Amino acid sequence: MPEFKNQPVTIVIFGASGDLTRRKLIPSLYHNFQKKRLPPNTKIVGFARRPWDDTAFREHLREGVITFSKTFSQADWDAFSPRITYFKGDLDTAEDYHRLREYLLHTVENGLANRLYYLATAPKFYAPAAHHLGGAGLANQNYGWRNIIVEKPFGHDLASAETLNKRLHAVFNESQIYRIDHYLGKETAQNILFLRFANTIFEPVWNRRYVDHVQITVAENVDVGHRGGYYDTAGVLRDMFQNHLLQLLSLSAMEPPASLDADAVRNEKVKLLQSIRPIDLNDTVRAQYDGYRNAPGVAENSQTPTYAALKLFVDNWRWKGVPFYLRSGKALPAKTSEIAIQFQAPPDIMFHLKTNDGFEPNTLSICIQPDEGIHLKFETKVPDSVRESRSVDMEFHYSDSFTDKVMPDAYERLLLDALKADASLFARSDSIHRAWELIDPIITGWENSPDAPPLAQYAPGSWGPAEADELPARMGHIWRLGCGGH
Ligand code: BG6
Repeated sequence: MPEFKNQPVTIVIFGASGDLTRRKLIPSLYHNFQKKRLPPNTKIVGFARRPWDDTAFREHLREGVITFSKTFSQADWDAFSPRITYFKGDLDTAEDYHRLREYLLHTVENGLANRLYYLATAPKFYAPAAHHLGGAGLANQNYGWRNIIVEKPFGHDLASAETLNKRLHAVFNESQIYRIDHYLGKETAQNILFLRFANTIFEPVWNRRYVDHVQITVAENVDVGHRGGYYDTAGVLRDMFQNHLLQLLSLSAMEPPASLDADAVRNEKVKLLQSIRPIDLNDTVRAQYDGYRNAPGVAENSQTPTYAALKLFVDNWRWKGVPFYLRSGKALPAKTSEIAIQFQAPPDIMFHLKTNDGFEPNTLSICIQPDEGIHLKFETKVPDSVRESRSVDMEFHYSDSFTDKVMPDAYERLLLDALKADASLFARSDSIHRAWELIDPIITGWENSPDAPPLAQYAPGSWGPAEADELPARMGHIWRLGCGGH
């Protein structure tokens, strides 16, 4: 909508008294302000029920920025914070959206303005809030664009995701809806396409002829903490696989898009998801860490998995027959997210190594976090030996190569993209549906099928249950230890 390009923008955050606003959204907007990247005249309105005024709201946010930003400065805050105001309203009350409209038009904007609505609320409010926005004329694009960001989880299963989409589409067009998956905003996740398609040396070997298998690990050392109430109804597949892990898989395995245009990228991602063969229950492992049931909000006899591992296959020309192993869990030994491309062993080893023990096939490891970077492992001759070989690492670390840059938080980039109406890092409805189509049968199989693997237990601080090691072992593979193999 080019005619609205240079208009001021108002960002309205629904659920503004919550943790996400204080920890992520406001610090990210503040960083964008410091970097002079916010459109001129950007205003931020917090919508929540608490009896706050502008001053109390700003003070609450200031403390958040002091805690969660590495670049807090009182002078910058003083320049930024007058843009923020507070509107007391109830998400379920239609009348409050009409009042909000008057407030935006007459107090905040005083003229034409684009608007970004951010649903940082509990998921049960996504559809009602969209409905009320429509009812109050707040989705109408006559005087500027009106876009809406929806947080995850997007539905609880395929049916509820479809219903939510229908209810959003009753008010907003698909092009107005931005479904956030913060993993897509991580620098290292964005770099996957650069690594693959801005270099010529990787792409020719990025296929079934050279790749033996792929491992994607998203491990967390934290346990469920105070989020037991939500987590116990979700479990690790809904919380991490349906979104973050499948997104990382899509970026790693998709075909090159024709451009970086949002739909070009998202077409390729959904094609990849469509090529995934339905996942066999025998290729899944589910487990719960010891002590999970004592966490507040968790049922006494909870069967909710806090760890899962899967093996899947992508049935297309590039990947046919190559196993992809995905795992994620809470209360593991480290916070580490890695995509590892394990290449095949050479067809013949003519060095007559005394033993194959020290010989490892090449691995390319993309470290998403915490030590962001890329490692390429290859074999080299041990000096002063006759035929001993050892694996060595060629390493790239963002922290060494970009010493003048602070790694931005994922939300910083995503908010900026939404303000520019660039949806390439947001999930389109078809890929969300397809992701649920892959995940739903595993969840229902685990709950109902006699063939389902039993819920295993694991000790907090371990790498998961023994069953998880058996999964890759069946094809002669072993899990790596985490980023860079360390
Ligand atoms: C969220 C999940 O989407 O991602 C959390 O709901 C998880 O359970 C978090 O802890 C992990 O995100 P990050 O960026 O810390 O890896």
